[in-house]
Amino acid sequence: MTATAPGRTDRHYLMCEPVHYTVSYEINPWMDATRYTDVELALRQWRTLRDTYLELGHRVETIEPIAGLPDMVYAANGATVVDGVVYSAKFRHPERQPEGPAYQKWFADRGYVTHTAAMINEGEGDILVVGDLILAGTGFRTERAAHAEAQELFGRPVVSLELVNPSYYHLDTALAVISSDPASPQIAYYPAAFSAGSRAVLNRLFPDAILATDSDAVALGLNAVSDGENVVVAPGARDLAAALRERGYTPIPVDTSELLKGGGGAKCCTLEIRA
Ligand code: ARG
Repeated sequence: MTATAPGRTDRHYLMCEPVHYTVSYEINPWMDATRYTDVELALRQWRTLRDTYLELGHRVETIEPIAGLPDMVYAANGATVVDGVVYSAKFRHPERQPEGPAYQKWFADRGYVTHTAAMINEGEGDILVVGDLILAGTGFRTERAAHAEAQELFGRPVVSLELVNPSYYHLDTALAVISSDPASPQIAYYPAAFSAGSRAVLNRLFPDAILATDSDAVALGLNAVSDGENVVVAPGARDLAAALRERGYTPIPVDTSELLKGGGGAKCCTLEIRA
């Protein structure tokens, strides 16, 4: 029998309001710089996402958006925080590089111990905590050497996973942590986004995982945020929502369609601060 939802635990999130949101460059296949972006709609969707977390009883802090950094709304990429230790992001593309120090400064100013990354990594876009393990993506953005750097810093085993489909360029576009409880860790993922070897690794570690369908994946349904019970997920990910319900989770559909034009969804906008 498959494990059921472990139950909600309080979360602490960092988000960045998309006041400077636009698509002015293209660094993933979702982005089309010739297409119109509606900043008002992006703001409304972002506020609904933030309010959803607040209504679920979670704590949300925000970082000041910086003009000229339209992707800063994707806070998940800004750092990785485990046991109160901050591993800074070091972005692959020059367009996003100033975001790394900006997020690091936010944490340093609040007294967090921060570690300046030597290796290219895009924060929680590619580094996900599930139970006692860290799953780390590579192939498009984060380099493998960053996985070793994160393991050394956090003292947790890091499992490297190879992404092979450019539409799922960050691990959090292809895999969602639905239970980070060390007693019952659980994930959902889209198998076609991974190399054969990585699929085999995931199957060994998580034999009961939810396998997302093509339509879940194209809706960016794997870019979901779970508190152990409630799972904020793109409304288009219907199969995933049904699979979550079957396991005792409560899917909470939140539409972030405007932010999808930049290649991100709910999880991309949400950096989890783990004390
Ligand atoms: N436009 C951004 C990029 O390509 C989107 C980042 C989405 N964030 C995420 N956590 N997957 O870098």
